[in-house]
Amino acid sequence: MNPLLKQLQPYPFEKLKQLFAAVTPNAAYRPISLGIGEPKHPTPAFIQKALADNLDGLAVYPTTAGTDALRATIAGWLERRYNLPKLNPATQVLPVNGSREALFALAQTVIDPSKQALVVCPNPLYQIYEGAAYLAGAEPYFVNCDPARNFAPDFASIPADVWARVQLVYICSPGNPAGAVLTLEDWAELFALSDRYGFVIAADECYSEIYFKAEAPLGGLEAAHKLGRTGYPRLIGFSSLSKRSNVPGMRSGFVAGDAEIIKSFLLYRTYHGSAMSPSVQSASIAAWNDEQHVIENREKYVKKFNQVTPLLQEVLDVSLPDAGFYLWARVDKLVNISDVEFAKRLYAEYNVTVLPGSYLGREAHGINPGQNRVRMALVAEVDECLEAAQRIVEFAKKLASTAA
Ligand SMILES: Cc1ncc(COP(=O)(O)O)c(C=O)c1O
Repeated sequence: MNPLLKQLQPYPFEKLKQLFAAVTPNAAYRPISLGIGEPKHPTPAFIQKALADNLDGLAVYPTTAGTDALRATIAGWLERRYNLPKLNPATQVLPVNGSREALFALAQTVIDPSKQALVVCPNPLYQIYEGAAYLAGAEPYFVNCDPARNFAPDFASIPADVWARVQLVYICSPGNPAGAVLTLEDWAELFALSDRYGFVIAADECYSEIYFKAEAPLGGLEAAHKLGRTGYPRLIGFSSLSKRSNVPGMRSGFVAGDAEIIKSFLLYRTYHGSAMSPSVQSASIAAWNDEQHVIENREKYVKKFNQVTPLLQEVLDVSLPDAGFYLWARVDKLVNISDVEFAKRLYAEYNVTVLPGSYLGREAHGINPGQNRVRMALVAEVDECLEAAQRIVEFAKKLASTAA
């Protein structure tokens, strides 16, 4: 067996299953889960139809690079969304089977494990970054996301001897779990470090189309363009239809950016065997070419978050995120309670599932920055999310009154 597999941590939901194993939830309430970040709004009918209309694609092997039509569609979407100059769809864009596999595979492509490689990961993090680093023969280096800096990773805290070993930096903006968006200044700092130390930047942007501010989140390629970086050196952006178009089961996303890296990535993927089904490619073209469903989807989230967040603010330390579909709340506003205990008792007493923040973070530099927080995925329809919020309020008030 590959010994590196032993370094993989149990997934947060495995830990949650173990935490809940001995608990019987209060049967007086129907179960509501705010645990898993799986979009629950319905898949638009026109995307289902585009998939069904193209089932003849199942009869042919796809190419790893995907069709010219899909790459041109993705390039067009990027140019419109981020105000970018014309991209070359043949060299700067590649379809992937959802951003998850691509985030993993990029590390396998760019890491040279003979050089004590480090991979910078935000903390808390989407756990794939960590597993990708280990299985590429590198070590993750966690940089804590600082609430005082809108959860931006504190790059200035990383010493020069660490930077010298860094080969890859994962950026998650909008972030999971905090929903924070990096600023142009954050990007400028990161690009300067990349120029100095030569590392690749993987910009995970799969939540970019669900946002709560007037302005759409700044993207990595957009930041690079604004800062005059021609050709997106050492930068790869990742996006996905899963959340934008409510098709997590379709497995469709793309990478875009530095043509040299994409060339090596294509080579890696050819051997790895990561090609997108032609039927999914056709449905993806339909999805990327339509913005109306994205606007309607976003409106639903805005309405939901605007109703749920103020309710929870009474008992939790929580605010509207920049983007994404999570609330990242401190649970010790009224009483001193850990995130794990909060999640366990909430499940036992009110049958609501939330994810303990410490399961999403790692102990680094003396703290686990997820501790005392829970992540709540507001993915269900508004009524269910409101009911969950009401139960959480009741639960937290009960905790406070019994502690008093
Ligand atoms: C931060 C982050 N990146 C990437 C993904 C992967 O999404 P997909 O593979 O569906 O594109 C997720 C999924 O939840 C995520 O939370």
